[in-house]
Amino acid sequence: MRSYTLTAPAKINLYLEIIGARPDGYHELVMILQSIELADEIAIQAGSTDAIRVRCNQPEVPLDKSNLAYRAAELMAVKFPGAYAKYGGVDITINKHIPVAAGLAGGSTNAAAVLVGVDLLWNLGLTRIELEELGALLGSDVPFCIGGGTAIATGRGEQLSSLAGLDNIYIVLAKHRNLAVSTAWAYKSYREQFGDSYLQDTESLAARAAAVHSGPMVKAIINTNATEIAQKLHNDLERVVLPTYPQVVQLREAFANAGVLGTMMSGSGPSVFGICESQQQAEQVKIRVGEMIPDRDLDLFVTRMITHGIQISASV
Ligand code: C5P
Repeated sequence: MRSYTLTAPAKINLYLEIIGARPDGYHELVMILQSIELADEIAIQAGSTDAIRVRCNQPEVPLDKSNLAYRAAELMAVKFPGAYAKYGGVDITINKHIPVAAGLAGGSTNAAAVLVGVDLLWNLGLTRIELEELGALLGSDVPFCIGGGTAIATGRGEQLSSLAGLDNIYIVLAKHRNLAVSTAWAYKSYREQFGDSYLQDTESLAARAAAVHSGPMVKAIINTNATEIAQKLHNDLERVVLPTYPQVVQLREAFANAGVLGTMMSGSGPSVFGICESQQQAEQVKIRVGEMIPDRDLDLFVTRMITHGIQISASV
């Protein structure tokens, strides 16, 4: 029986600007997304029945339809009924390393891996664009997670333009294990507080997105200048998450005091990252932040920016 093991990297947001509201209830965004080495492993194989089954090494991860990986397999079964009838169900095993509900796209990257894995398992031969279109039906971050690297994301977050990938810039990532922020809550609160400032017409929205495309953060990325990138980090969602979650403020302060080049919350949080000069500095920052916040609940990771999304690590 054929099986594939895929590596599914997490992402951080180097830039997240909310520029408007959309008729579908989502927000118009301009983001710069970055894959990082911290990853889950997803094993996919044909099931012995027509059922979709999810297993995970972490008990808090749901195994039913509320898991985006399950929904990704279900979507493939609906979109490709002939292949589903021929090959049957799918067994998905998730080996989780990415913190859950952290603003790191852990669920989205698992779903992206399932799309790529089922495409292989069922010999569908889908293109990257076709996989991204399927991903957009599952969640705003899923299309990016497929190809990964460094990309500008507009619209809901699903319209991607790749940038020259940043590689080997080290970061330290921090997340309180028992702290979770709902993405829907963060966007809703932002709209309630700052909705008045949203751009209204299509032209202004397009102009704002274009300004970011040619703006200072993109220049810093093209120049691979970690110091400049760290100075230009931006995340509008901090405006609602920081006042509500003092632990996130504390993490940002600890990173700043530990001497990182720059620090920011990722996505809707509550994970916070600090950009470092080198792997050696990152190891020291990890120790210092751990000393400043001696909380058993705090997970700290040294990781680095990478240039790819989902990769096949084994096929049998
Ligand atoms: O697309 P995804 O399921 O990841 O989004 C989670 C939630 O975040 C959505 O239900 C929505 O409330 C909010 N969101 C938004 N605008 C976006 C992306 C997400 O309002 N562009």
